[in-house]
Amino acid sequence: MEALSMLGSPKARHETFLPNGMNGVKATGRVPIGVIGSGDFAKSLTIRLVRCGYHVVIGSRNPKFASEFFPHVVDVTHHEDALTKASVVFVAVHREHYASLRGLRPLLAGKILIDVSNNTRINQFPESNAEYLASLFPDSQVVKGFNVVSAWTLQGGPKDASRQVYICSNHIQARRQVIELARQLDFIPVDLGALSSAREIENLPLRLFALWRGPVVVAVSLATFFFLYSFVRDVIHPFARNQQSDFYKIPIEIVNQTLPVVAMTLLSLVYLAGLLAAAHQLYYGTKYRRFPEWLETWLQCRKQLGLLSFFFAAVHVAYSLCLPMRRSERYLFLNMAYQQVHANIENSWNEEEVWRIEMYISFGIMSLGLLSLLAVTSIPSVSSALNWREFSFIQSTLGYVALLISTFHVLIYGWKRAFEEEYYRFYTPPNFVLALVLPCIVILGKSVLLCPCVSRKLRSIKRGWERSQFEEDATGTAQQFSPQRVTVM
Ligand SMILES: Cc1cc2nc3c(=O)[nH]c(=O)nc-3n(C[C@H](O)[C@H](O)[C@H](O)COP(=O)(O)OP(=O)(O)OC[C@H]3O[C@@H](n4cnc5c(N)ncnc54)[C@H](O)[C@@H]3O)c2cc1C
Ligand SMILES: NC(=O)c1ccc[n+]([C@@H]2O[C@H](COP(=O)([O-])OP(=O)(O)OC[C@H]3O[C@@H](n4cnc5c(N)ncnc54)[C@H](OP(=O)(O)O)[C@@H]3O)[C@@H](O)[C@H]2O)c1
Ligand code: HEM
Repeated sequence: MEALSMLGSPKARHETFLPNGMNGVKATGRVPIGVIGSGDFAKSLTIRLVRCGYHVVIGSRNPKFASEFFPHVVDVTHHEDALTKASVVFVAVHREHYASLRGLRPLLAGKILIDVSNNTRINQFPESNAEYLASLFPDSQVVKGFNVVSAWTLQGGPKDASRQVYICSNHIQARRQVIELARQLDFIPVDLGALSSAREIENLPLRLFALWRGPVVVAVSLATFFFLYSFVRDVIHPFARNQQSDFYKIPIEIVNQTLPVVAMTLLSLVYLAGLLAAAHQLYYGTKYRRFPEWLETWLQCRKQLGLLSFFFAAVHVAYSLCLPMRRSERYLFLNMAYQQVHANIENSWNEEEVWRIEMYISFGIMSLGLLSLLAVTSIPSVSSALNWREFSFIQSTLGYVALLISTFHVLIYGWKRAFEEEYYRFYTPPNFVLALVLPCIVILGKSVLLCPCVSRKLRSIKRGWERSQFEEDATGTAQQFSPQRVTVM
């Protein structure tokens, strides 16, 4: 078959080492990389390969038409011609067309076939696409990879989303070659072993914010509950009691009562998980016992819970700063001034109120500052610049300080009102009292863990100490094995 454009390989040629005979694939033009298909993925992949100095040969059903979409340095030819030239071949066609490639089986024997395909649903087929491809081409070495990057990412270079690509294959040498190829293309290859991992790899791009779902559901449920709670207390109550219309409060005041309570609750949930984990370890006297499934999931979602808490707190701050700008606030202020003149009060300065507001605002600002630090260090490029101790100091120690300071913010905001009857509308406690429940429990729990006798025990457990072992040693009931009785399985 004659290629439509055989204009050779790029001029700048540098020999690059690739294991198992792929030396010279890059830029020598002797062993081009093959791509079956001329669609979006094939085009973007080709551009990336050419930019990285590879010579590419495209196998298409209609090379004349397809050649228009590829750079002139690329060979666009028929399937058979392309496959005779390449020893590493990307299969850039959808799974449903794999069977139509069966006739190419002899030409693909002994070659590396890279399956880049995705499905439209999680676990769509009984076997993964890569395993299906391997069953159609048993004489080829099928490798799964590159499916987690979009055509767009490939073309522009891996800058936008994750640079990780997951690779698996039953052929160790082929897997190594593809891993090296991924590195050359500026991706970060992750070796997932045998081809049986292909199903997991194919499901990855179909997952949408998997770790975020639980925290988002919790945040939205809390927000809905506290919004309705504030609405009933601050809008329905004055209307029912005095026919007073406070519906104007809904867009800003009610929202700004909801957001900070959710922020506080989410922040407490972040640290409550670690407390429960520590309590579990203390109770069982070991760190080698698995946490219950729900706690494991909770521990894994702490970053998402924390970032959502930061989001709610930041929006609360924006709302709070806008409170004095409102027309309603100005009317209320004027009315108050008028009543003051009527009551012949010259100076309404209230030292206690002044201090209360100065203090709670200051604590709020400090707490937001610390939460911002936690949020910044959760960005991968920042966290990778920190060592484990630095990261854990910021996330754990400063995180607890942020929780403590925001608790002060709310305590001082509430001040004596927690004990005044008029704030218990419909016999329900004010929002700030509810906002304080979980943080107080967490701070109390952490104080218990910090007691020297408890923290010493927890430290030993973290270093591998086990109570059962200790008890056995103390009572002398530990089984004594003679070297002859130990069987190595
Ligand atoms: C804005 C913001 C951003 C955040 N970003 C991140 C982030 O990027 N990454 C992140 O991980 N968290 C993040 N978090 C969540 C939180 O800050 C961290 O998880 C923090 O390390 C929790 O500290 P801790 O002291 O409660 O828990 P830890 O220090 O994890 O542990 C407390 C105790 O629980 C036990 N324990 C906890 N987890 C395990 C486990 N998996 N296995 C065994 N024992 C365990 C140990 O006994 C330990 O003593 C963020 C929070 C916020 C508010
Ligand atoms: N697009 C992405 O962002 C992306 C990301 C990750 C993975 N992928 C995977 O990459 C593969 C290709 O995706 P794509 O977006 O490039 O699809 P596409 O644009 O539809 O291109 C598919 C190509 O397959 C070839 N083809 C179509 N029908 C065929 C048939 N019956 N027999 C043989 N070849 C046939 C065609 O090339 P010819 O006409 O030249 O033969 C066509 O251009 C898919 O498996 C997809 O899951 C795509
Ligand atoms: C710059 C930082 C902050 C400022 C300026 C600020 C300001 C305020 C203001 C003005 C109020 C009173 C709102 C009202 O009258 O309705 C308030 C209440 C509150 N704030 Fe903040 N805040 C800040 C940070 C935070 C943070 C970081 C949190 C929690 C993580 C938080 C939690 C709360 C809570 C729970 C309330 C009580 C809400 C209520 O009961 O209605 N605040 N804050």
